[in-house]
Amino acid sequence: MILVGPADDFNQNLASKIGIQLVDMQRRVFPDGELCPRVLIDKEDQLRGKEIILSMRMPSKSCNPNSYLVEVLLTIRNLREHIRASSIHVIMPYFPYARQDNIFRPGEPLSAKYVANLLEEAGAETVYAVTVHLHRVGSFPSLFHKAQGVNVSGFPSLADVLKRMNLVKPYIIAPDEEAIVWAKEVAEYLGTDDYTAFVKERDVETGEIKTTIKEIDVRDRDAVVIDDIVSTGGTMANAVRAVKKMGARRVYSAFVHPVLVSNALDRIIGAGANEIIAADTLIWEGSKASVVDQLVEEIRGK
Ligand code: R5P
Repeated sequence: MILVGPADDFNQNLASKIGIQLVDMQRRVFPDGELCPRVLIDKEDQLRGKEIILSMRMPSKSCNPNSYLVEVLLTIRNLREHIRASSIHVIMPYFPYARQDNIFRPGEPLSAKYVANLLEEAGAETVYAVTVHLHRVGSFPSLFHKAQGVNVSGFPSLADVLKRMNLVKPYIIAPDEEAIVWAKEVAEYLGTDDYTAFVKERDVETGEIKTTIKEIDVRDRDAVVIDDIVSTGGTMANAVRAVKKMGARRVYSAFVHPVLVSNALDRIIGAGANEIIAADTLIWEGSKASVVDQLVEEIRGK
């Protein structure tokens, strides 16, 4: 088995923990935006007949899920057709288009499913992703026809970091009702029964977010606002602001996927967050938690 992917800390760590060789990649972008991801091999037959794990992460902030997806698809197809790997497993820690896991309005695509199908048609046998945002379809594996989908939780990595912070009487808050399952998961890791969820409504046309707050007594306590994704930061900022106003001692903003478009971080810090804790599912220099161990466990258990 060989790991193929950009030789960053994430992939070096992954390769060394699985105990396999890492083959580097170059992520080339042409001036018009077309992509040419290159597996850095010297000879065309270098990886012929090998079982490959391809690991690529989407860059945060400047992120473009469309480019990321095309890069991964081109690489899988190349590994299958020209490099001629015997089998290809793919690690996409942030699974793009997962939030479109439903047809919310007539005429919209069921993007999460179509993306899964593109990956398996390109040649992926297994797709590992972290905390895939699927609330409306049964499960990640059910998106695929042929490939195996493996959904690894990113919350233990956040909980590990939070645990080391010696929080004072932590209260875990989900910024919307969908996130209550994750608030419960993290509360259990931290050994507290105190968790709750606010209610969020998003205007499907404008994207505007309205959060309905539930009054909780967080005075003299540390509050952790927990979510899977921070994109514009609107959902997180609304919850952080409310908890701060209710008198929390410190407010931790913790999330798995730091997508962080435009001024998301400024919004969250401006709302009063004392500390940001995010995992390394995207390439972001601020990540304090790592999902590598959880991925290694899944891959080893295969
Ligand atoms: C959606 O329900 C997700 O769990 C996140 O709450 C959402 O994607 C965050 O988006 P934004 O940062 O744009 O508010």
